[in-house]
Amino acid sequence: MSVATQSIIAYCRAGYEVDTGNELTAIATERELYGFPVFKAGEGYVRFQFHSAEDAAKFVNDVPVQETIFPRQLFLLLGEVQLEDKSDRIGPLLDSLNEQAPDRCGTLWVEYPDTDDGKTLAKLCRKLAVPLRQALRAKDYLSRKEQLNLPALHLFFTSGEHYFIGLSQAKRRSPFENGICRLKFPPKAPSRSTLKLEEALLTMLTAGQREAICRPGARAVDLGACPGGWTYQLVSRDMHVEAVDNGKMADDLMATGLVDYRAEDGFKYRPQMGHVELLVCDMIEKPDRVAVLMANWLTRNWATHAIFNLKLPMKRRYETVRTAIDAVGSQLASANINARMVIRHLYHNRDEVTVAVIREN
Ligand SMILES: C[S@@+](CC[C@H](N)C(=O)[O-])C[C@H]1O[C@@H](n2cnc3c(N)ncnc32)[C@H](O)[C@@H]1O
Repeated sequence: MSVATQSIIAYCRAGYEVDTGNELTAIATERELYGFPVFKAGEGYVRFQFHSAEDAAKFVNDVPVQETIFPRQLFLLLGEVQLEDKSDRIGPLLDSLNEQAPDRCGTLWVEYPDTDDGKTLAKLCRKLAVPLRQALRAKDYLSRKEQLNLPALHLFFTSGEHYFIGLSQAKRRSPFENGICRLKFPPKAPSRSTLKLEEALLTMLTAGQREAICRPGARAVDLGACPGGWTYQLVSRDMHVEAVDNGKMADDLMATGLVDYRAEDGFKYRPQMGHVELLVCDMIEKPDRVAVLMANWLTRNWATHAIFNLKLPMKRRYETVRTAIDAVGSQLASANINARMVIRHLYHNRDEVTVAVIREN
């Protein structure tokens, strides 16, 4: 497909534009691709403008969104439409695509930023999706049936009069519209935090890893467990959990017989029955302290894998996360541990990121 612009678009949580821009700059620079972020604080997306169209294409071909921290979705920007006549929102899209002769896409997503203003566009986006699909299929820009192995066409509305047109590749994009993994709150879970670990397990681990790690009978430790939202996720997969916290655990969880509650300091705790498969940690503490603790558990082989949250400061959030993660990485490397690290600012996270360290040997 021809490349119309020199930019990519990254969706993010509103308020995280600076961090997303800093991260994109760092990733681009590492690859000797150069550009700069353009954004307004609170808009829920960043446009990253490269010096050449080739650099923009290289970036999106090389960087899966799952390997980034703050972006929820990434696409190559093909063009944008500023509507003069709101009665025809489809014609200008077809004109723009006609100019570019794109390959056929397998799906169309009509999206909007995750902001208060953006949410007012949800209805319009839903309404437009059907006629847009029909018009695109008539021109053969879109496959007859949805084909998720083909590129996706994104229309990202920033207002009722303006949208970006973009393209993402199957293996590089988030599989979720708006880059948001929506989950139903399990009615028996004791806290909304449960959705953080559920999203992490679903999106940061492969199906094979999930099955191997969260298997019935496997042991886990949950540091900072109360009231038990994360423990709930593990127990509902029939795992045995040592739940460590001075707070109170939900009675329902204790009644499962799968939870061994320990009112202790998570920084001093040692696993009671020796090695566990999975360590999880949601203690509110400084990221560098948590990072060292996690690395110690892994290098001492108290746990094979770890999933933990790093609480973010108000400023220099990207740099703070990188420093903490680099510390974990270098401790694992000195212990010859080969692990895959995934770090994501999940939809259900607030001012924190989730890190999964999955050992590969
Ligand atoms: C965000 S809450 C955890 C929520 C939990 N993941 C859930 O899903 O219900 C943080 C917890 O960490 C605990 N905590 C903080 N520092 C701790 C420490 N040093 N040792 C043990 N628990 C700690 C707090 O008591 C609090 O219950």
